[in-house]
Amino acid sequence: MESKPMQDKVAIVTGGASGIGRAISTRLSKAAATVIIFGRNVERGNNTVEELTADGGKAEFFRTDLISGEEIQKSMSLVLAKYLSVDILVNNAGISGFMGPVVDTPMQEVEDVLKVNLTSMFHLSKLVLPKMIENRYGRIINISSVAPRVTPPNSATYNMSKAAVNALTKTLSREVASYGITVNAIAPGMVMTERILKSRIPGMAQKSGVSPEEYLQKLTEGTDTHRLTREEDVAELVMFLASKASQNITGEIVNVAGGY
Ligand SMILES: NC(=O)c1ccc[n+]([C@@H]2O[C@H](COP(=O)([O-])OP(=O)(O)OC[C@H]3O[C@@H](n4cnc5c(N)ncnc54)[C@H](OP(=O)(O)O)[C@@H]3O)[C@@H](O)[C@H]2O)c1
Repeated sequence: MESKPMQDKVAIVTGGASGIGRAISTRLSKAAATVIIFGRNVERGNNTVEELTADGGKAEFFRTDLISGEEIQKSMSLVLAKYLSVDILVNNAGISGFMGPVVDTPMQEVEDVLKVNLTSMFHLSKLVLPKMIENRYGRIINISSVAPRVTPPNSATYNMSKAAVNALTKTLSREVASYGITVNAIAPGMVMTERILKSRIPGMAQKSGVSPEEYLQKLTEGTDTHRLTREEDVAELVMFLASKASQNITGEIVNVAGGY
């Protein structure tokens, strides 16, 4: 294990057992933070915890459906009873929801996407803040997206949820800055997680009339760096924003998108 800058820190990573969240959990764990993962998939959550602990880390999974305010409340009560306070909250969990025009979008989808992508961030922040304020230290990092800036069609629910995440980030950062708490968001460009590769790329390629490989090539060329964002790129930035070194950076929406 590398040096231990996060040794005495407790970090929650929502959706921390897959995709970008998993890279974040791994990065924070390597820096010796105690990593608490919130998610629904118990097997995947437990497997990630096993891997982190096998590598010398400390980690625990709390099965939590972020659609449910009661489940959020219950898991947070358990976490606070056991760990007393949370130093770092990484609101990473998110869903794309219905991909199609507004006129065809089922209203239940709108509600669910907003609950997972936005309301859970608000709720979790609200629950960790009293102890952070008492401790005069805290880091809240929200995973947003380039979506509110680029506004691709057929994903209005997702785009607006992330726009609201940015507004929450900026507003909250101003409320808590004087307590030594920073609140920032990260806006990744498209990251080729397992989910994106399996469930999004084939359909998007088909719509554009090209093969998935050609579509990936086009996406890559759309960046200035000619390199798509990787999970680890986001995790490295989380690590920095979670550290003491970033103490004067707050209320920022930081793009990790190769210039896209
Ligand atoms: N991949 C990209 O291209 C990209 C680009 C920009 C921004 N982002 C953002 O990055 C974040 C992570 O995305 P990803 O691509 O890594 O996705 P992912 O691999 O699908 O991971 C999403 C995570 O969210 C959790 N989650 C979803 N619904 C949940 C619920 N109701 N309750 C609790 N947990 C829930 C899932 O855990 P369970 O299955 O265990 O519930 C899963 O671990 C999201 O906020 C996404 O919007 C992604």
